[in-house]
Amino acid sequence: MNEKIAALLNDQINKEFYSAYLYLDMANYYDSLDLDGYANYYMVQAQEERDHALLFMKYMQNNGLKVTLEAIGKPDKTYASALEPLEAAAEHERYVTALINNIYHEAHQDKDYRTMKFLDWFVNEQMEEEDSADTMISRYKLFGQDPKGLYLLDQEYAARAYTAPSLVL
Ligand code: FEO
Repeated sequence: MNEKIAALLNDQINKEFYSAYLYLDMANYYDSLDLDGYANYYMVQAQEERDHALLFMKYMQNNGLKVTLEAIGKPDKTYASALEPLEAAAEHERYVTALINNIYHEAHQDKDYRTMKFLDWFVNEQMEEEDSADTMISRYKLFGQDPKGLYLLDQEYAARAYTAPSLVL
């Protein structure tokens, strides 16, 4: 495989683990507000991000590529309201979409159809991730200012359960 693509795949492992870290930090923030449902939502999100990292790692292993695990950055955002992590999450997911698109672009340039096929799952996943993040913002703006509305939203997010990714390598 093209070295540049291998390096981007390796870097994406780190980026996905960083995403998990970022969402754990958001879970801690919501826990500090006693919004346990939102905290649960981001705990589950962190598990999904760990799964994404492991999928990139497994894909590299399956292709005989050397995996190098790098240090994970410290999540250094601070939040001043329950809305702010939601906005940060949406912005972060758009950034991750751009990363995935960039790897896809390189794979396409290199006629690396195998990597393109692998990345197809992530292209769809990013559409869902952005949509979910945007919906959380809209719903908070619609209902979250009212204590009862916020309570109901929090209850709903408390019900989010982890499910393993549909992609198996
Ligand atoms: Fe791994 Fe939220 O994208």
